[in-house]
Amino acid sequence: IEQYLVYGNPIKQSRSPDIHKIFADENNIAIDYQKQLVALGDFKTAVKIFIAQGGKGANVTAPFKEDALKLADTLTERASLAGAVNTLTFKEGKIYGDNTDGEGLVQDLLHNNVTLKQSRILILGAGGAVRGVLLPLLAQDPKSITIANRTVSKAEALCENFNDERLTACGFDELADQTFDVIINATSASLSGDLPPIPTSVITNDIACYDMVYGKDDTPFIKWAKAQGARKTIDGLGMLVGQAAVSFSVWHKIMPDIHSVIEQLRKAIQ
Ligand code: ATR
Repeated sequence: IEQYLVYGNPIKQSRSPDIHKIFADENNIAIDYQKQLVALGDFKTAVKIFIAQGGKGANVTAPFKEDALKLADTLTERASLAGAVNTLTFKEGKIYGDNTDGEGLVQDLLHNNVTLKQSRILILGAGGAVRGVLLPLLAQDPKSITIANRTVSKAEALCENFNDERLTACGFDELADQTFDVIINATSASLSGDLPPIPTSVITNDIACYDMVYGKDDTPFIKWAKAQGARKTIDGLGMLVGQAAVSFSVWHKIMPDIHSVIEQLRKAIQ
């Protein structure tokens, strides 16, 4: 039976083992998938031990995604541009690093019937979460992606790094006269109950509002968007399932259906 695990610190909260087991059952594949708490500084050793035990692959969550990037012998383009690895594959003595977060977001947006092709996308935030999703989003052929951030220089640095004419950077106050089709909140503001200071004028009736964070209740951003009249609001639970699904497809060459797992998890967090 093939062995997989997810590394993190903390790790108790991780739902990856449950998600991967459901995908495996649905596709008649036998896997063993565990979670492992790793002490800071012990990541490399933990991976080497798992490889020696015959481990086939691992997911990586905070705070080890950059350690995983450094440890990989080979990186996919999306992992190297993300500057982070969340999926490791161990094969013939080599460590392959990938990042499925951005594709997980894309899968969830498409699953929610959000049109990305030729759309004007606004991303709030310019941290690691944004860097991780830009390449997969650009691959969906949007008209433009505007990155708005509290610290504008960080948004500008991201645009320079990706060097794509569809990308622009700005501050929140510059959004007042602009119109978008999709807004993705990728700031960590929701985690502390805060809201990025964006003008209410960006919320038009038919805009799709996505928050990368999820919880039992609506996130502050989703509450706010609904109050401004947004009809389509989506939280980040599906992105979590989506990144797992893409990891699963990297390992098992089958893209699982995310729909039923999202519903099961939604019930489990209520
Ligand atoms: P992550 O890996 O989750 O992206 P990060 O790299 O620390 O985490 O980035 C956090 C992002 O949330 C940044 O864009 C940050 O803005 P700054 O670059 O100006 O710091 C943004 N952020 C955090 N708290 C915020 C708040 N209260 N209002 C607006 N933006 C916030």
